[in-house]
Amino acid sequence: MTTSQIIKQNQTGAFDVEIVRKDFPLLKRMVHGKPLVYLDNAATSQKPLSVIEAIDRYYSEENANIHRGVHWLSERATEAYENARARIARYINAAKPQEVIITRGTTESINLVAFSWGWKNLRDGDEVLISAMEHHSNIVPWQMICARTGAKLRVIPVSDNGEILLYEYRNLLNPKTRIVAVTHVSNVLGTVNPVSEMIQWAHENGSLFLLDGAQSIPHMDANMRELDCDFFAFSGHKLFGPTGIGVLYGKFALLDEMDPYQGGGDMIRSVTFEKTIYNSVPHKFEAGTPHIAGGIGLGEAIAYLEKLNRHAAEIHETNLLHYGESLLRQIPGVRIIGNAKEKAGAISFLMDGVHPHDIGTILDQEGIAIRTGHHCCQPLMERFGIPATARASLAFYNSREDLDALAEALGKVRDIFH
Ligand code: ALA
Repeated sequence: MTTSQIIKQNQTGAFDVEIVRKDFPLLKRMVHGKPLVYLDNAATSQKPLSVIEAIDRYYSEENANIHRGVHWLSERATEAYENARARIARYINAAKPQEVIITRGTTESINLVAFSWGWKNLRDGDEVLISAMEHHSNIVPWQMICARTGAKLRVIPVSDNGEILLYEYRNLLNPKTRIVAVTHVSNVLGTVNPVSEMIQWAHENGSLFLLDGAQSIPHMDANMRELDCDFFAFSGHKLFGPTGIGVLYGKFALLDEMDPYQGGGDMIRSVTFEKTIYNSVPHKFEAGTPHIAGGIGLGEAIAYLEKLNRHAAEIHETNLLHYGESLLRQIPGVRIIGNAKEKAGAISFLMDGVHPHDIGTILDQEGIAIRTGHHCCQPLMERFGIPATARASLAFYNSREDLDALAEALGKVRDIFH
């Protein structure tokens, strides 16, 4: 589909998945002689042609280091990179582009907050509050900084349905809680957490709130000034952009107070052997030559999303999720893990008597890509008393036919094992 076709579609308010799919070259490929059914979007998303072309164009026509050269090419590259930052800021409704720090991904963004804000602000006896459904990237950095500062990591439990127990959250919030760090959408359970309420409670308690948006921003709006979180982390590759690039949004006043996370080129204003004066936000957090092509690619992914009818895409995805769950519930022996009232993106499941890895391997032979394992959430697996799940995860370019293929292949898995 051409850009003008997308705009036309946007204007009519329609969402035609068959047209959208044409923008993603990889979706056309065959795997093991079968058409690819890509249902591993929570691990990484496919890229529209416009993103692939933007990266190619950067290396073919604009490649130069940024923020350094006085030459024409360096100025072009700097402009393209900074335009991408401004586009990201607009997309998430940040107050200004400086609130967007470009990182390697969600993991680096959370580590940045833990080691920069945490090192400066956490003291012996303080508390950091996370939930039982966090990914390792929103657990381990906090464990590391707690070990160094003497702060204590506390965990909000989740219900059997896979929802955060809000009354437990209320009880855990106390004057020692310095920061709450919670995922917006669970990569395993698909739960959409009631984060507006949670952020408000944290603020009433005098605590900061870091929202892990890695699994939410591909499916729904992320409006910083509406959510009012203090930090927001997400990855480019889950948002139809390149790998190795991501974002940490932070409220400017907080970022301004924080010390740099890494030292090196570009994050300084001046250096002598006696003293270094740091650059301003956001550059003081961006040491070294960044992934320039990645930043430009992420900007292009957002440009693509801006042309899409996001509202219609969201409805399409929600319908798909319900359709997929209803198909899976009809298969004897299949149990869905994660039955929250509000869900997005992911359907985790088990099949009686079949290890998730065997499900994944048989599905692969049918050209169907899902993820199996603990999904980097070992404590959550422990909470549910299971070692692993099989997980089908969605993007707006998935169709009902993809889910029909999944259900049919799961029928085959069942026939093989029973
Ligand atoms: N966190 C990613 C996933 O859920 C990698 O697959």
